[in-house]
Amino acid sequence: MPLPKAELHLHIEGTLEPELAFALAERNAVRLPYADAEDLRKAYLFSDLQSFLDLYYGLMAVLRTAEDFTELADAYLARAAAQGVRHAEIFFDPQAHTARDVPIGTVVEGLAHALDRGEERHGVSTQLIMCFLRDQPAESAMATLDAAKPYLHHISGVGLDSAEVGHPPAKFREVYAAAESLGLRKVAHAGEEGPPAYIAEALDVLGVERIDHGLRAMEDPDLVDRLVRRQIPLTLCPLSNVRLRAVDTLEDHPLRAMMDAGLLVTVNSDDPAYFGGYVGDTFHAVREALSLSHDQLRTLARNSFQAAFLDHDEPRRER
Ligand code: HPA
Ligand code: ZN
Repeated sequence: MPLPKAELHLHIEGTLEPELAFALAERNAVRLPYADAEDLRKAYLFSDLQSFLDLYYGLMAVLRTAEDFTELADAYLARAAAQGVRHAEIFFDPQAHTARDVPIGTVVEGLAHALDRGEERHGVSTQLIMCFLRDQPAESAMATLDAAKPYLHHISGVGLDSAEVGHPPAKFREVYAAAESLGLRKVAHAGEEGPPAYIAEALDVLGVERIDHGLRAMEDPDLVDRLVRRQIPLTLCPLSNVRLRAVDTLEDHPLRAMMDAGLLVTVNSDDPAYFGGYVGDTFHAVREALSLSHDQLRTLARNSFQAAFLDHDEPRRER
């Protein structure tokens, strides 16, 4: 029996396995610049976040109909459930689809069709978090929030992803204020490739409740102190960090040091179809690479439920 856990950092578009990509390409008459699934997998050699994002957004061309999004989400839930996931808070990137003339309603309703059956079919409860692409203008994010208004009953929060460096959180101050006034929860990617100052800015300016990644927090002892004191959750993605070259090897990953420092860290898969494993695989890999004890694995699983937007009626705020 795998440890029951929650997954809090998972991009649904990042669960698009090469085989499903080819099946959808055929169904939707989309030509892919790869011979087959195996050829596509061979292209998964990334040098940094941007080199991944270029391929990732390109492959999304195969996602066109609500059924495509339903199939994608259902496949994720089946795989996640098999690895012990009981609750998942799932990111999606509306702008990556609306830019290709796929309406936001098609995306949300397609995903929701699978997620609404997640408990019954897979024993996994879910929430949806809509991410803004931080390398797009803030006006585009605001327009996306506006376009999402008819679908907010399916959406519990907002996040911030895509190319980090040069796009500090403060760029989205007004968008996050508007999201908060709509009753949405707030998270943001910060400190994946960007500096520790982006983590502090996401807390101070955007008022986020969790930091996605937060890997580079360890460079700033005062920031670590603050994150520990306030028990701000960090949703780490160790396999992603290796594949995108944020750390050299899994053995070099600061996960254990971060736990030892008293940080509320969780372990997640980010984009499992691209980075070599779903969340159970990730638990297994960090256990081996960092010689984690069973108690430490249980702490990580417990942290995942503590950091989830479950049973917390009110947004978590810094005191
Ligand atoms: N970082 C930023 N944007 C992303 C990521 C990530 O790890 N995965 C998918 N979009
Ligand atoms: Zn991510």
